[in-house]
Amino acid sequence: MSMMRAAAAVLRTFPPETAHGLGLAALRTGLMQPHRRAEDPRLAVRLRRSGLELSNPVGLAAGFDKNAEVFTEMLGFGFGFVECGTVTPLPQSGNPRPRLFRLSRDRAVINRMGFNNEGVEAFAARLEAQPRRQGPVGANVGANKDSIDRINDYVVGVRRVWAISDYVTVNISSPNTPGLRGLQDRGALEELLGRIGEQARALEAASGPRPLFLKVAPDLDDRAIQEIVEVTVAAGQLTGLIVSNTTTTRPESLQDPQRSETGGLSGAPLLERSTAVLATFASALDGRLDLIGAGGVSSAQDVVRKLQAGAGAVQLYSALVYEGPDLVSRIKQDLLRLMDAEGVRTLEELIGVSKG
Ligand SMILES: Cc1cc2nc3c(=O)[nH]c(=O)nc-3n(C[C@H](O)[C@H](O)[C@H](O)COP(=O)(O)O)c2cc1C
Repeated sequence: MSMMRAAAAVLRTFPPETAHGLGLAALRTGLMQPHRRAEDPRLAVRLRRSGLELSNPVGLAAGFDKNAEVFTEMLGFGFGFVECGTVTPLPQSGNPRPRLFRLSRDRAVINRMGFNNEGVEAFAARLEAQPRRQGPVGANVGANKDSIDRINDYVVGVRRVWAISDYVTVNISSPNTPGLRGLQDRGALEELLGRIGEQARALEAASGPRPLFLKVAPDLDDRAIQEIVEVTVAAGQLTGLIVSNTTTTRPESLQDPQRSETGGLSGAPLLERSTAVLATFASALDGRLDLIGAGGVSSAQDVVRKLQAGAGAVQLYSALVYEGPDLVSRIKQDLLRLMDAEGVRTLEELIGVSKG
């Protein structure tokens, strides 16, 4: 067992949120240290619509580094990009604990954190303190629970992080802020993207363009997906979608007694659903927006599946809980091994041959 895997195993003996806090502290203090190796150029990908160049397609999903404290360390572990947040305009404490659950038997997590974070000013100060970074760092923005104008919260967030992040994600898919997912409905989404678009055009004129993503839920039927595609393409300012956030559904397969906890489910049991929704978005979009695939990724094979479904890159979070931060290096080595075994020279070719 590697040191990092052992460290992850030790952390799992603590309650989940304590473990996360200890993990962040170990990263911040240098107790848990990455040893980044030179990246193999065969892993590089480019998100065309967004103009993002990634040294590899494996990103850290939002929610791990909510306050932008450890993005440098996580890039050091070899992630191709890191998404910080969700951050809200004002600090807020989130839901009462316990609010994070490990479903070990299912290699899954349920969380109902509720956007606990230190607010966008603290977040922005940390990004500003480290302007030169080893890879793209995204800022994922959301709305305060008690806000009287939620759309304005997104506008405030986008405005504050625009010039200091490498991309911005508008998160309307957390199940833990009541009503938030309603922003995915046609009318609300049109209004949201209208107001964000207006702000984005002004920011673009002042400080240049930024890739802009919308993060959606996996709990969408085909009609809802079609509507989101129509509205997001028509809005004009978005460059991509992140598919997906956690699910409020509970697949029959779940074994762990904690499966009935309220919240969003992530990890292995989310792979199938989130990848199916990703594929539906991909066929409806036909290349008009970039896609980042998230949900249940824990291996090179899973990465290949997401790329085959139409993603240009992927993100993961829950698998880190079980595998530790060295997981990303192992996934990259396995991707290179798969490429060697198939006798191909690029990830694109690998996606082609694995399709069979
Ligand atoms: C504990 C936890 C907290 C999360 N917090 C956020 C968040 O603040 N914002 C967000 O957009 N997604 C959040 N997510 C969702 C992840 O970014 C990701 O979309 C989802 O977990 C699926 O990926 P995974 O199966 O690899 O974990 C969170 C996930 C977990 C497990």
